[in-house]
Parts: sequence; structure tokens; C-alpha cells
Amino acid sequence: MRLSIEKASKTYPGTVTAVDDVSFAVAAGELVALLGESGCGKTTTLKMINRLIEPSAGRILLDGTDVATIDPAVLRRMMGYAFQGVGLFPHMTVAENIGVTPKLLQWGAQRITSRVDELLDLVHLPPEEFRNRYPRELSGGQQQRVGFARALAAGPSVILLDEPFGALDPLTRDRLQQDFRDIHNRLTLTTVLVTHDMTEALLLADRIIVMKAGKIVQEGAPDALMNHPADPYVEELISTPKRQADQLENLVQASGAAQ
Ligand SMILES: Nc1ncnc2c1ncn2[C@@H]1O[C@H](COP(=O)(O)OP(=O)(O)OP(=O)(O)O)[C@@H](O)[C@H]1O
Ligand SMILES: [Mg+2]
Repeated sequence: MRLSIEKASKTYPGTVTAVDDVSFAVAAGELVALLGESGCGKTTTLKMINRLIEPSAGRILLDGTDVATIDPAVLRRMMGYAFQGVGLFPHMTVAENIGVTPKLLQWGAQRITSRVDELLDLVHLPPEEFRNRYPRELSGGQQQRVGFARALAAGPSVILLDEPFGALDPLTRDRLQQDFRDIHNRLTLTTVLVTHDMTEALLLADRIIVMKAGKIVQEGAPDALMNHPADPYVEELISTPKRQADQLENLVQASGAAQ
């Protein structure tokens, strides 16, 4: 499904405008990263897409239909959401967490059970081992995987992920990123991924939207951002991954020359 955010703004009473006249589109099957520093409006933008937050101005279209006219329950089925900081329900088992939306949609118990097992397989957590555990009995990476499974539970076409790979060791993070990219491709999802990590965005996304203080400062494909930063802020953001890539390249060449 195609997403279109048109001149969306969100102003909270007594504070500055959290999101200020933001427009962008996400094509069906595309993975777009929404990137920027803390407080720039990423989560607010993401939550306006599935109506967890209503915009103060502007509109969001899903395949041309204004989401404001779609029943929130129907919208939840079409859009999976993974919260910042995972946000699993601590008093529910893994299976119950994943089954929350299907239950809301009044699926039968048997259908939910088989869907939960199918999703646990998809995120590489063996169902027999994990379905009856509680979130506190899982590692951080395993919790993130359950968070993905929960977002995918009702078979949505759109997935909204809020910093899903934060606070993980680099290897686990890399594996989870690759696994998610595979799932995204296999299910032809439309994904908006919020992150503050430019390297992650460069390696994972088809397109990157850079936000600062509620506004979009640049959007483009990873190579376009890397080679043509249109703004000093974007230049600063890509300087670290660029320098690290150069240093690694030098190391590889040096070891090649030594052989
Ligand atoms: N309910 C609220 N009431 C008032 N201000 C809010 C509310 N929620 C968010 N804000 C403000 O809106 C701005 C954007 O917040 P948002 O959560 O979208 O940032 P973010 O980019 O997701 O940041 P982070 O990377 O830290 O998660 C911030 O200045 C925040 O303080
Ligand atoms: Mg946030």
C-alpha cells in the first residue's frame, strides 16, 4: 500500500510545533527511514500515520484514502506498529502479546494460535521454546523479535517501526536488521522505520528522510545523501559513517598489500 503524508503538522498546547508541515510519500514495497536527533518529531510523525496522534493540520493518505475516515480498528489491521522501547505487555506471555490485535479483531482461538506459531517461526524464535515465556524471560533482541511478530500479527501491509534496533549489541543488531529487511521484502511491506542512526538508515533503507526541529531537511536515496548532502546538518550526520567506511577500506587495502 502507498502512504502519503501531506503537509502534516502537530502542535501541542503551550509547546513548540513538534511536527511542522511535513510531506513525504512511501511507495508500496518501499522501506523509508525517518531519521533525526532526539525530539525532532519522528515518533509524533509515525503516530500520526496510524492515528495514535491526530494531526493539527494536514492529512495522511493510505492508497489515496484519508486515514481520518478509516475506522481505527480497521486501520490497526492494515498497519502494524512496533513501539519505541519494544513495549511488550509484561503480564502477558509471548503468545498473548503477539495475539493482541488478532484477539481484538475477534479471531478464533485456534486461528490465533497457529498465526502466533507461524510468526514466531518467521522471526526465528522456535514456538515450542518461546510461546509461553514472559517478556522478562527474554533477552533484549528476543523481545524486539516478539515486537516485530506482534506488529505483523494481523497481516498488515504497512509496518511502522520506532527505533526497533536500539540498545542491542552490534552482531544481534545486524542480524535483526537483515532479518527484518528479508521479511519486508518477502511480504512486500510498506515500511517506515524511525531511527537516529545514520549508518543503519544508509544500509537498510531505500530512501532516507532527515528531520530537524519538526521539519524535513532532506530526503533521498542513501547514495544521494552520502554524495550530495544538501544541508550542513546532513553533512554532519553522514560524516561519521563516511569516515568509518574510509578507515575500513584503508584497513582492507593495507592488509591486501601486506600479503
Ligand atoms: N504529549 C506531548 N505533549 C507535549 N509535547 C510533546 C508530547 N509528545 C511529544 N512532545 C514534544 O514534541 C517534540 C517531538 O517529540 P517526538 O517524540 O516526536 O520526538 P522523537 O524525534 O521521536 O525523539 P526521540 O528520538 O527522543 O524519541 C519533542 O519536543 C517533545 O517534547
Ligand atoms: Mg521517538
